[in-house]
Amino acid sequence: MKLLQEQLDIIEELKTLCENKEWSYPEGSTRDPLDFGIHSKAEVIKSWHIPKTTGQFLFFMVNLIQPKNILELGTSVGYSALWMGIAAQNYGGNIHTVEYFDEKIEIADSFIKKAELEKTIVVYKNKIIDFLDTTDGEYDFVFMDADKGNYLKYYDLLKQKGSQNCLILVDNAGNFKHRMKDFIDEVQKDDSASVSFLNMDNGILLIQFGRINSNLSVVQNLFKNYQKPE
Ligand SMILES: C[S@@+](CC[C@H](N)C(=O)[O-])C[C@H]1O[C@@H](n2cnc3c(N)ncnc32)[C@H](O)[C@@H]1O
Repeated sequence: MKLLQEQLDIIEELKTLCENKEWSYPEGSTRDPLDFGIHSKAEVIKSWHIPKTTGQFLFFMVNLIQPKNILELGTSVGYSALWMGIAAQNYGGNIHTVEYFDEKIEIADSFIKKAELEKTIVVYKNKIIDFLDTTDGEYDFVFMDADKGNYLKYYDLLKQKGSQNCLILVDNAGNFKHRMKDFIDEVQKDDSASVSFLNMDNGILLIQFGRINSNLSVVQNLFKNYQKPE
């Protein structure tokens, strides 16, 4: 097993490598540009990884809650998955992460290998909706960081799929809240969910449904007064 400091250095290396990296919409593809996070075929595709401090927060939350099965929607190059992975590896948790774009998956896989996290993190090449339709996995921790306009669909599917006690963290609930308005409105109306908003980096929504892990209730007390992202 690699030392934590070595793994942190690898995460930093990935960040540097991908900071200015750009790709084009794949020639000949018939996929919806939105699946690549762009609105037209002419736009450039970037890694759009989370800020380092959000990565540290994910590391902290995974360490604290120790979820067994983590699901990530939107792997990109694996930056956030690595942050969660180095925490999950310590207690035997596992991460399933979903991405459609081949070239990003290649980078993610190579860095997962480099950090010796292959037993902890598995990248699935799939469209998120198809993954959620077919997975049997019961996830107790979900990080949503993909196509914002579909989060409500994903949320409903996750609940139907029997993830009874689950904490969902949603990135960009501050800067891109307009793209997920239907989802944020619905979650706030959901009596079975407890919602907090953390006003750091791009804004992180914390949604818990089912039984609240006692460690999570400590975190929720910290962010007690839920403010709708402005
Ligand atoms: C914001 S990036 C994820 C960044 C990553 N979580 C990180 O911090 O390192 C969103 C990713 O989701 C992928 N994506 C968007 N919609 C998707 C879909 N419907 N199915 C599969 N992947 C999708 C995009 O290709 C993009 O790489």
